[in-house]
Amino acid sequence: MVQASPLLLALFLALGAHGLAVKKCNLTGQWWNDLGSNMTIDEVKKNGDFTGKYLTAVSGSTSNITASPMVGSQQLANLSQPTFGFTVHWSFTDSITVFTGQCFVDEYGKEVLKTMWLLRSRVENIKNDWNATLVGYNTFGRNKTSWIEDW
Ligand SMILES: *[C@@H]1O[C@H](CO)[C@@H](O)[C@H](O)[C@H]1NC(C)=O
Ligand SMILES: *[C@@H]1O[C@H](CO)[C@@H](O)[C@H](O)[C@H]1NC(C)=O
Ligand SMILES: *[C@@H]1O[C@H](CO)[C@@H](O)[C@H](O)[C@H]1NC(C)=O
Ligand SMILES: *[C@@H]1O[C@H](CO)[C@@H](O)[C@H](O)[C@H]1NC(C)=O
Ligand SMILES: *[C@@H]1O[C@H](CO)[C@@H](O)[C@H](O)[C@H]1NC(C)=O
Ligand SMILES: *[C@@H]1O[C@H](CO)[C@@H](O)[C@H](O)[C@H]1NC(C)=O
Repeated sequence: MVQASPLLLALFLALGAHGLAVKKCNLTGQWWNDLGSNMTIDEVKKNGDFTGKYLTAVSGSTSNITASPMVGSQQLANLSQPTFGFTVHWSFTDSITVFTGQCFVDEYGKEVLKTMWLLRSRVENIKNDWNATLVGYNTFGRNKTSWIEDW
Protein backbone atom coordinates (compact mmCIF):
# COMPACT_ATOMS: atom_id res chain seq x y z
CA MET A 1 0.00 0.00 0.00
CA VAL A 2 1.47 3.36 -1.06
CA GLN A 3 1.42 6.20 1.48
CA ALA A 4 -0.29 9.30 0.03
CA SER A 5 2.01 12.31 0.38
CA PRO A 6 0.51 15.63 1.60
CA LEU A 7 1.20 17.10 -1.84
CA LEU A 8 -0.73 14.33 -3.62
CA LEU A 9 -3.52 14.66 -1.09
CA ALA A 10 -3.75 18.42 -1.75
CA LEU A 11 -3.75 17.75 -5.49
CA PHE A 12 -6.49 15.16 -5.06
CA LEU A 13 -8.62 17.60 -3.05
CA ALA A 14 -8.02 20.35 -5.63
CA LEU A 15 -9.03 18.14 -8.55
CA GLY A 16 -11.87 16.49 -6.65
CA ALA A 17 -13.94 13.65 -8.03
CA HIS A 18 -14.10 15.36 -11.42
CA GLY A 19 -10.32 15.12 -11.86
CA LEU A 20 -10.45 11.33 -11.41
CA ALA A 21 -13.54 10.85 -13.57
CA VAL A 22 -11.95 12.44 -16.65
CA LYS A 23 -9.16 9.82 -16.91
CA LYS A 24 -9.92 7.83 -20.05
CA CYS A 25 -9.46 4.15 -20.75
CA ASN A 26 -7.70 4.02 -24.12
CA LEU A 27 -7.57 0.68 -25.95
CA THR A 28 -4.50 1.60 -27.99
CA GLY A 29 -1.23 -0.01 -26.89
CA GLN A 30 -0.02 -3.16 -25.19
CA TRP A 31 -2.03 -5.30 -22.75
CA TRP A 32 -1.32 -8.41 -20.64
CA ASN A 33 -3.91 -10.78 -19.23
CA ASP A 34 -4.13 -13.12 -16.25
CA LEU A 35 -2.90 -16.09 -18.34
CA GLY A 36 0.21 -14.26 -19.54
CA SER A 37 -1.17 -13.65 -23.03
CA ASN A 38 -0.43 -10.26 -24.53
CA MET A 39 -1.87 -8.12 -27.29
CA THR A 40 -1.08 -4.86 -28.99
CA ILE A 41 -3.94 -2.70 -30.24
CA ASP A 42 -3.13 -0.21 -32.99
CA GLU A 43 -4.51 3.33 -33.13
CA VAL A 44 -8.33 3.33 -32.95
CA LYS A 45 -9.78 4.91 -36.12
CA LYS A 46 -12.23 7.82 -36.08
CA ASN A 47 -15.15 5.43 -36.61
CA GLY A 48 -14.08 3.24 -33.64
CA ASP A 49 -12.58 0.38 -35.67
CA PHE A 50 -9.15 -1.00 -34.81
CA THR A 51 -6.67 -3.74 -35.69
CA GLY A 52 -4.03 -5.44 -33.58
CA LYS A 53 -2.03 -8.54 -32.81
CA TYR A 54 -2.71 -11.18 -30.16
CA LEU A 55 -0.11 -13.58 -28.73
CA THR A 56 -1.80 -16.27 -26.64
CA ALA A 57 -0.01 -18.03 -23.78
CA VAL A 58 -2.42 -20.98 -23.89
CA SER A 59 -3.62 -23.21 -26.69
CA GLY A 60 -5.28 -26.58 -27.20
CA SER A 61 -3.55 -26.90 -30.57
CA THR A 62 -0.41 -28.98 -31.13
CA SER A 63 0.98 -26.33 -33.54
CA ASN A 64 3.50 -23.77 -32.34
CA ILE A 65 1.84 -20.58 -31.15
CA THR A 66 2.44 -17.45 -33.23
CA ALA A 67 1.07 -13.90 -32.92
CA SER A 68 -2.33 -13.68 -34.62
CA PRO A 69 -4.15 -10.75 -36.23
CA MET A 70 -7.28 -9.27 -34.71
CA VAL A 71 -9.88 -6.75 -35.84
CA GLY A 72 -12.33 -4.97 -33.60
CA SER A 73 -14.44 -1.95 -32.89
CA GLN A 74 -15.26 0.23 -29.89
CA GLN A 75 -18.16 2.53 -29.02
CA LEU A 76 -17.40 6.25 -29.20
CA ALA A 77 -20.31 7.89 -27.33
CA ASN A 78 -18.49 7.59 -24.00
CA LEU A 79 -14.73 7.60 -24.42
CA SER A 80 -14.02 7.42 -20.68
CA GLN A 81 -14.93 3.70 -20.30
CA PRO A 82 -15.93 2.36 -23.74
CA THR A 83 -17.36 -1.03 -24.64
CA PHE A 84 -15.63 -2.95 -27.44
CA GLY A 85 -15.41 -6.22 -29.30
CA PHE A 86 -12.77 -7.93 -31.42
CA THR A 87 -12.17 -11.13 -33.36
CA VAL A 88 -8.87 -13.03 -33.23
CA HIS A 89 -8.13 -14.95 -36.42
CA TRP A 90 -5.65 -17.53 -35.10
CA SER A 91 -2.68 -17.97 -37.46
CA PHE A 92 -1.60 -21.39 -36.19
CA THR A 93 -4.96 -23.19 -35.98
CA ASP A 94 -8.33 -23.02 -37.74
CA SER A 95 -10.29 -21.74 -34.72
CA ILE A 96 -11.77 -18.27 -34.20
CA THR A 97 -12.22 -16.34 -30.95
CA VAL A 98 -14.51 -13.34 -30.40
CA PHE A 99 -14.07 -11.11 -27.35
CA THR A 100 -16.45 -8.51 -25.92
CA GLY A 101 -15.63 -6.26 -23.03
CA GLN A 102 -15.35 -2.87 -21.46
CA CYS A 103 -12.31 -0.67 -20.85
CA PHE A 104 -12.37 0.58 -17.23
CA VAL A 105 -10.27 2.97 -15.15
CA ASP A 106 -10.02 1.34 -11.71
CA GLU A 107 -9.95 3.04 -8.31
CA TYR A 108 -6.14 3.48 -8.58
CA GLY A 109 -6.43 5.17 -11.96
CA LYS A 110 -5.17 2.09 -13.84
CA GLU A 111 -6.71 0.90 -17.10
CA VAL A 112 -8.33 -2.55 -17.00
CA LEU A 113 -10.13 -4.57 -19.68
CA LYS A 114 -12.85 -6.91 -18.43
CA THR A 115 -13.68 -9.35 -21.21
CA MET A 116 -15.59 -12.49 -22.08
CA TRP A 117 -14.87 -14.67 -25.10
CA LEU A 118 -16.21 -17.49 -27.25
CA LEU A 119 -13.71 -19.84 -28.91
CA ARG A 120 -15.07 -21.73 -31.90
CA SER A 121 -13.19 -24.84 -33.04
CA ARG A 122 -13.72 -26.24 -36.51
CA VAL A 123 -15.31 -29.70 -36.53
CA GLU A 124 -15.54 -32.06 -39.51
CA ASN A 125 -19.14 -33.08 -38.96
CA ILE A 126 -22.28 -31.14 -37.99
CA LYS A 127 -22.94 -33.86 -35.43
CA ASN A 128 -19.96 -32.51 -33.47
CA ASP A 129 -21.32 -28.96 -33.48
CA TRP A 130 -22.81 -29.27 -30.00
CA ASN A 131 -19.49 -29.03 -28.12
CA ALA A 132 -17.43 -26.99 -30.59
CA THR A 133 -17.63 -23.67 -28.69
CA LEU A 134 -15.86 -22.75 -25.43
CA VAL A 135 -16.65 -19.71 -23.28
CA GLY A 136 -14.35 -17.89 -20.88
CA TYR A 137 -13.32 -14.58 -19.39
CA ASN A 138 -10.09 -12.65 -18.99
CA THR A 139 -8.89 -9.45 -17.33
CA PHE A 140 -6.21 -7.39 -19.07
CA GLY A 141 -3.96 -4.71 -17.60
CA ARG A 142 -1.07 -2.57 -18.83
CA ASN A 143 1.52 -4.14 -16.53
CA LYS A 144 2.88 -7.61 -17.23
CA THR A 145 4.20 -8.21 -13.73
CA SER A 146 1.86 -6.54 -11.28
CA TRP A 147 -1.66 -6.72 -12.62
CA ILE A 148 -2.61 -9.67 -10.39
CA GLU A 149 -1.99 -7.67 -7.19
CA ASP A 150 -4.56 -5.11 -8.26
CA TRP A 151 -7.35 -7.29 -9.68
C1 LIG B 1 -5.22 6.83 -27.24
O1 LIG B 1 -3.82 6.70 -27.21
C2 LIG B 1 -3.21 6.91 -28.49
C3 LIG B 1 -1.74 6.55 -28.40
O2 LIG B 1 -1.20 6.88 -27.17
C4 LIG B 1 -3.47 8.35 -28.89
O3 LIG B 1 -2.86 8.60 -30.15
C5 LIG B 1 -4.96 8.58 -28.98
O4 LIG B 1 -5.25 9.93 -29.29
C6 LIG B 1 -5.64 8.22 -27.66
N1 LIG B 1 -7.09 8.27 -27.85
C7 LIG B 1 -7.90 8.95 -27.05
C8 LIG B 1 -9.35 8.86 -27.36
O5 LIG B 1 -7.50 9.60 -26.11
C1 LIG C 1 4.14 -9.65 -26.42
O1 LIG C 1 5.21 -9.36 -25.55
C2 LIG C 1 6.48 -9.61 -26.12
C3 LIG C 1 7.52 -9.41 -25.04
O2 LIG C 1 7.42 -8.15 -24.48
C4 LIG C 1 6.68 -8.70 -27.31
O3 LIG C 1 7.92 -8.95 -27.92
C5 LIG C 1 5.57 -8.95 -28.33
O4 LIG C 1 5.66 -8.01 -29.38
C6 LIG C 1 4.20 -8.81 -27.67
N1 LIG C 1 3.21 -9.26 -28.64
C7 LIG C 1 2.06 -8.63 -28.82
C8 LIG C 1 1.15 -9.23 -29.84
O5 LIG C 1 1.74 -7.64 -28.19
C1 LIG D 1 7.78 -25.90 -33.17
O1 LIG D 1 8.93 -25.26 -32.62
C2 LIG D 1 9.98 -26.18 -32.34
C3 LIG D 1 11.06 -25.40 -31.60
O2 LIG D 1 11.32 -24.18 -32.23
C4 LIG D 1 10.46 -26.83 -33.63
O3 LIG D 1 11.49 -27.74 -33.34
C5 LIG D 1 9.29 -27.55 -34.29
O4 LIG D 1 9.69 -28.06 -35.53
C6 LIG D 1 8.12 -26.60 -34.47
N1 LIG D 1 6.96 -27.36 -34.92
C7 LIG D 1 6.21 -26.99 -35.95
C8 LIG D 1 5.04 -27.88 -36.24
O5 LIG D 1 6.45 -26.00 -36.63
C1 LIG E 1 -21.66 9.30 -21.14
O1 LIG E 1 -21.35 9.14 -19.74
C2 LIG E 1 -21.80 10.23 -18.96
C3 LIG E 1 -21.27 10.01 -17.55
O2 LIG E 1 -21.50 8.68 -17.13
C4 LIG E 1 -23.31 10.32 -19.02
O3 LIG E 1 -23.77 11.42 -18.26
C5 LIG E 1 -23.74 10.51 -20.49
O4 LIG E 1 -25.17 10.47 -20.59
C6 LIG E 1 -23.16 9.41 -21.37
N1 LIG E 1 -23.43 9.72 -22.76
C7 LIG E 1 -23.92 8.82 -23.62
C8 LIG E 1 -24.14 9.31 -25.01
O5 LIG E 1 -24.15 7.67 -23.30
C1 LIG F 1 -17.18 -33.46 -28.56
O1 LIG F 1 -18.01 -34.59 -28.49
C2 LIG F 1 -17.62 -35.61 -29.40
C3 LIG F 1 -18.67 -36.70 -29.34
O2 LIG F 1 -19.90 -36.18 -29.80
C4 LIG F 1 -16.24 -36.11 -29.03
O3 LIG F 1 -15.80 -37.11 -29.95
C5 LIG F 1 -15.27 -34.94 -29.07
O4 LIG F 1 -13.99 -35.35 -28.63
C6 LIG F 1 -15.76 -33.81 -28.20
N1 LIG F 1 -14.91 -32.66 -28.41
C7 LIG F 1 -14.41 -31.97 -27.40
C8 LIG F 1 -13.60 -30.77 -27.80
O5 LIG F 1 -14.62 -32.26 -26.24
C1 LIG G 1 4.46 -2.55 -12.87
O1 LIG G 1 4.45 -3.24 -11.62
C2 LIG G 1 5.70 -3.22 -10.96
C3 LIG G 1 5.61 -4.10 -9.73
O2 LIG G 1 4.53 -3.74 -8.91
C4 LIG G 1 6.05 -1.76 -10.60
O3 LIG G 1 7.31 -1.71 -9.98
C5 LIG G 1 6.07 -0.94 -11.90
O4 LIG G 1 6.29 0.42 -11.59
C6 LIG G 1 4.77 -1.07 -12.65
N1 LIG G 1 4.87 -0.40 -13.95
C7 LIG G 1 3.88 0.34 -14.44
C8 LIG G 1 4.12 0.94 -15.79
O5 LIG G 1 2.82 0.53 -13.84
